[in-house]
Amino acid sequence: MVDVDITRIEPDDAAELTRWHALMREAYTADRTAAWWQSLESTLTQFAHPRSDKSDIALLAHLGDQAVGGAEINIVTDAPADVEIGVLSAHRRQGHGTSIAGVVEDLLRGRTELVQTETYCPEGVAFAGAQGLNIGNQEHRLLLDLPAYLHDDANRYKIPDPKSRLTTDPDPNLSITSWIGGCPDEALEDWARLRQQMDEDVPVGDLTRTLKHAGTDAIRTHEERMDEQGWILVSSIAHLNSAAPGSTPAGYTEIMVSRHEPDIVIQEDTLVDRAYRGRGIGRALKVTNMRQLHEIPEAAQASWVQTFTADSNGPMHALNRNLGFVTVDSMTAFEGRIDYS
Ligand SMILES: CC(C)(COP(=O)(O)OP(=O)(O)OC[C@H]1O[C@@H](n2cnc3c(N)ncnc32)[C@H](O)[C@@H]1OP(=O)(O)O)[C@@H](O)C(=O)NCCC(=O)NCCS
Repeated sequence: MVDVDITRIEPDDAAELTRWHALMREAYTADRTAAWWQSLESTLTQFAHPRSDKSDIALLAHLGDQAVGGAEINIVTDAPADVEIGVLSAHRRQGHGTSIAGVVEDLLRGRTELVQTETYCPEGVAFAGAQGLNIGNQEHRLLLDLPAYLHDDANRYKIPDPKSRLTTDPDPNLSITSWIGGCPDEALEDWARLRQQMDEDVPVGDLTRTLKHAGTDAIRTHEERMDEQGWILVSSIAHLNSAAPGSTPAGYTEIMVSRHEPDIVIQEDTLVDRAYRGRGIGRALKVTNMRQLHEIPEAAQASWVQTFTADSNGPMHALNRNLGFVTVDSMTAFEGRIDYS
C-alpha cells in the first residue's frame, strides 16, 4: 500500500480550497441523482469567516501531485465534531480513507472524543462501520420537480381541484406570515422560540442531541452569515389566533436558495407545535412558503427542491409524497467515541 500525503489547507488559501472543494464534491456526489453540494463561494466564505463557536479544517490527501481524497472537520463548542471523509472512486479500497481517518483522529485529540459523520452510499456505511462508528439515524433524501410544481401553482386558479396538492384547508384561526431575507422584528421572538423547540423535537435517532438555544441575537447573526455565504432565506411562520389578546406561534418552515448555485433549492426545517399537529398547518406552511419562490429570480433557474425526512417520520413522509417529493437516496448518520488510549 502506497501511503498518501495528507496536508492541512490554510483557511485563506483559496486555490487549494478550490481544489479540495472539487474533490470532496466529486467523492460525495458521483453516481447520485441531483446530489447537492455546498457552492465553492459559500465554502470559501465559510473558511474565511469562521463562526465564533466553530473551527473548520480542510485536509487534502495526495499521491505525488494527484489529489485522491480529503476530509472536512467541523469542531463545534459543546457538540460532537462533524467529520466528512471522501476518496475518489478510482482510488478506493486502498486504505486511503483509513489513513485520512488517522490524521483526523490526531487533529481531534484533546479537543473532543465524540464524532459524527454522514454518508449517502453503501461504501460509506461499510467504511464508517469499519471505523467503529455506530448508526445513529437514517433519513430519506427527497426531491421535488420545482418547475413543474411552480407551473401547477401558478395555474391553480384555472382548474380548481379540491384534491390538488396545492390546496390548503382555510382554517379561519390560522394566519401565516411569510418573508424573504431577515425575520420581521415583530415575529422574531416567536421565530427564536420555535427554532429552539425544533432543536428539542427534531428526530435524531440515537445521535447525541445538540441544543443551541439560539436567542434573537444569534438569529440575526445567523441571517447575516447566511447572506454573506450567498443564501436567500425564504420563511413562513404560522400563528393561531385565540380569544385572548395576541396569538400563539404554531409552527414554521424555511427554504434556502443559493445565489451561487440555485439548481437545488433546500427545504430546511418544518415544525408544527405538538399541540397543533394533524390540522393541516404543516401543509399550509409549506405550500405558502414555496409560493414565495415565484418572487425570487434565482429560483427560476432551479430544477429541484431537496429535503430530508427521518425514516420514522410517517406524517412528514405522507405530506412530502403528496406534495410531489420522491425519495432518491438515503442518508445514514453515524456517531462514535474516539478511544485515544
Ligand atoms: C467511504 C470512503 C471514504 C472509503 O474510502 P476508502 O479509501 O475506499 O476506504 P479504505 O480503503 O480505507 O477502507 C477501509 C475499510 O472500510 C470498509 N470498506 C470501504 N469501502 C468498502 C466497500 N466498498 N465495501 C465493503 N467494505 C468497504 C472495509 O472494511 C475496508 O477495509 P478492507 O479494504 O481492508 O476490507 C469512500 O468510499 C468515499 O469517499 N465514499 C463517498 C464519501 C462518503 O460516503 N464518506 C463517508 C465517510 S464516513
